[in-house]
Amino acid sequence: MPAAPSGTTARPRKTVYLGDPLAEPPAPDLLSLLEPYQGRRDTVVSVLQALQERYGYLPERAMRYAARELGVPLARIYGVATFYNQFRFTPPARYSVHVCRGTACHVAGSGAILTAIKKDLNIAEDESTPDGMFSLQTVACIGCCSLAPAVVVNHDVHGTVSPERIKVVLDRYRAPEVEAQS
Ligand code: FES
Repeated sequence: MPAAPSGTTARPRKTVYLGDPLAEPPAPDLLSLLEPYQGRRDTVVSVLQALQERYGYLPERAMRYAARELGVPLARIYGVATFYNQFRFTPPARYSVHVCRGTACHVAGSGAILTAIKKDLNIAEDESTPDGMFSLQTVACIGCCSLAPAVVVNHDVHGTVSPERIKVVLDRYRAPEVEAQS
């Protein structure tokens, strides 16, 4: 079986090989997304941002195609994707829980909030629940320090939460017919 090309050339590859994991052409929407970046090795961040905007995360196969079209090694694509914490490698959960870990929230007890959420969801930071309902991440100041400690679920800001109250907040999101309110 012929070896796959190293991917070190700046020119986009025009042919594929038997046994190549990318032998099938990419889906039309991915193809059109990657087209403007062909051969542009300095656009790794931009193409990753475009992929994440399209899919909500960075699918492995899409990153492989991106490496091929940009003409850079796949390791460089992964290197950039893992360097910036804006990128994620798993599909987004239905509800993204962000615990503010800025100074004001830290002083107000965000550590205990984070611990309570981890325990309630039974996941660690940067993980998603197996049912895809919740993901958990920490963020720096979200700009509402007067509400510290603050937690954001999707676009809803929940202020002055306590370890006890955050469980009630999460339960509201679990009940599909009940609209979650802060
Ligand atoms: S530190 Fe949490 S909102 Fe500012």
